[in-house]
Amino acid sequence: MGDIHKVAVLGAGTMGHGIAQICATAGMSVAMRDLNDELLARGRAGIEASLGKLTEKGKIDEAARDAALARVRTTTDLADAVKDADLVVEAIPEKMALKLETFAALAEHAPEHAILASNTSSLSVTEIAGASGDPGRVIGLHFFNPVPLMLLLEIVRGLGTSDATVEAARAFAARVGKEPIVVKDFPGFATSRLGVILGCEAIRMLEAGVASAEDIDKAMELGYRHPMGPLRLTDLVGLDVRLAILDHLHKELGEQFRPPALLRQMVRAGKLGRKAGEGFYTY
Ligand code: CAA
Repeated sequence: MGDIHKVAVLGAGTMGHGIAQICATAGMSVAMRDLNDELLARGRAGIEASLGKLTEKGKIDEAARDAALARVRTTTDLADAVKDADLVVEAIPEKMALKLETFAALAEHAPEHAILASNTSSLSVTEIAGASGDPGRVIGLHFFNPVPLMLLLEIVRGLGTSDATVEAARAFAARVGKEPIVVKDFPGFATSRLGVILGCEAIRMLEAGVASAEDIDKAMELGYRHPMGPLRLTDLVGLDVRLAILDHLHKELGEQFRPPALLRQMVRAGKLGRKAGEGFYTY
């Protein structure tokens, strides 16, 4: 397993375009793939906006910004995106059937030496790996939103993941400036399991009329020094994303993860948080 020069990122959404951005900023060539040109254009615009902010703040200079942007190509063709990749990072929706289909396609189209990673935030990496036919090279690379700012990379080791793949993932984390933790493949890993329970309780408190959304958030921001309260954070992550994680953890780990009715109703109403312009707050 050599150095990583070329990365394919599957999915140009919130996480996918953030991952593409940090890889490109670190000097890797990136192929970002999504289902249509509109999604790809939105992903590219997200990268431009974020790099713009970082340039304004003097975190990177204009030449580095332009070079990073030039290193990202977009395509709707999965086979084309992964054909010469050293690393594939899947960041598609959290649906096991989609992940299995994607990793089966990677078995066919990605080079044999490529590491195949999933950005899943709670699903079984071991199960996803099964579809690839080569579990040794499959691993979880769980990033956090907003990807360019959050320091953590949660590396998830599936049952069949090889030591070489774990070491390559650690080296990749260093290249993209992230601090890794290595965790066992267990529902919700070390992050989502704790993170969603806080958001879940905050929604139950809102349902019970304990306090307003603003005050529940303020309680954790000022009383516990969280950078943003659990409801504001749920808006940032996406209510649909959190609901999918809760549904999965409820099934795997039990009653404490049962999604609040209010969350499900809001998702049904399209109030998905910041990306939809409305969630617990309006944007
Ligand atoms: N790219 C570049 N810059 C960005 C950015 C992005 N994507 N997003 C925000 N910024 C910049 C802003 O422009 C701002 O710059 P200035 O300070 O110069 O104005 C700076 O970052 C700070 O942003 P804000 O003023 O809007 O707000 P903030 O000080 O609260 O910081 C935050 C924003 C970094 C997001 C901070 O609130 C935070 O750390 N929040 C918690 C985020 C978190 O917990 N993420 C994990 C979610 S869980 C997950 O992702 C995994 C999962 O499985 C679902």
